[in-house]
Amino acid sequence: MQTISSTVTLNNGVKMPVFGLGVFESGESTVPAVQCAIQNGYRLIDTAAFYLNEKEVGEAVRTCGVPREEIFVTTKVWNDMQRESRQREAFEKSLRELDMEYVDLYLVHWPIPGKIHETWKVLETLYEEKLVRAIGVSNFLEHHLEELSVKGNVAPAVNQFESHPYLNRKELRNYCLSQNIVPEAWSPLGRGAALEEPLLKELAEKYGKTPAQIILRYHVQNGVVPIPKSVREERIRQNAEVFDFALEGEELSRLEGLDRGDMHGDPDRVDW
Ligand code: A2P
Repeated sequence: MQTISSTVTLNNGVKMPVFGLGVFESGESTVPAVQCAIQNGYRLIDTAAFYLNEKEVGEAVRTCGVPREEIFVTTKVWNDMQRESRQREAFEKSLRELDMEYVDLYLVHWPIPGKIHETWKVLETLYEEKLVRAIGVSNFLEHHLEELSVKGNVAPAVNQFESHPYLNRKELRNYCLSQNIVPEAWSPLGRGAALEEPLLKELAEKYGKTPAQIILRYHVQNGVVPIPKSVREERIRQNAEVFDFALEGEELSRLEGLDRGDMHGDPDRVDW
């Protein structure tokens, strides 16, 4: 059985934890939330320049009592900095905010038309300079990944995209797995929308778990790294307790059947 600190090996040999904490909209609770997560075994923290809390993530990692090298920190280059060709500057600012010497994983936050190759070249340089241990993308569809595979030198290690029971992205997930790109799910709980779903309640009862834990276990068994966001101690702890049971194959299929295309951000229409 895996544990919360188990890892998946990325396409460049770097090991990334199979489960993490998201901090989008964690606001002033970011420091205690990250500290609580690390105390409960989380080893992956996912932030972004856009979230405006890299400083707090850095502070929490520095003060949590676990060595920096044991924590996997992800951040991302935001869209305006891509549009203005200021990707390098964006990274340097993130590093300053985090107050770290390197980032474990640096992602392109959204695919910006006409900028995909340019941004990727900057990430490749950061990787060559060993300022980042791995590079990847977020919100890339298959056609964006294909564009990169034609023009890039370094293959993306990770694709982080919106995925939850109401939007499972099965084809994209399988495409990523087939290309040795680790799929990572943002909004893995669908912002809480699916928690009242009868099937989740049924499985929660069967396993003595909560609907949120059933969803997170579903991601883990699909080979997807979930990064649920919570600022509440009890939920941070609860979300991590998904490594002591396993869903059956038929239950995973039933969960896939909940898909209804509920998408919050369409990667082909990025106007933010
Ligand atoms: P909170 O931070 O108050 O706990 P997602 O990661 O899918 O975007 O979901 C995050 C949302 O779900 C947040 O509103 C978070 O609120 C809530 N949430 C996180 N964990 C749980 C849980 N175990 N049960 C219910 N709601 C949760």
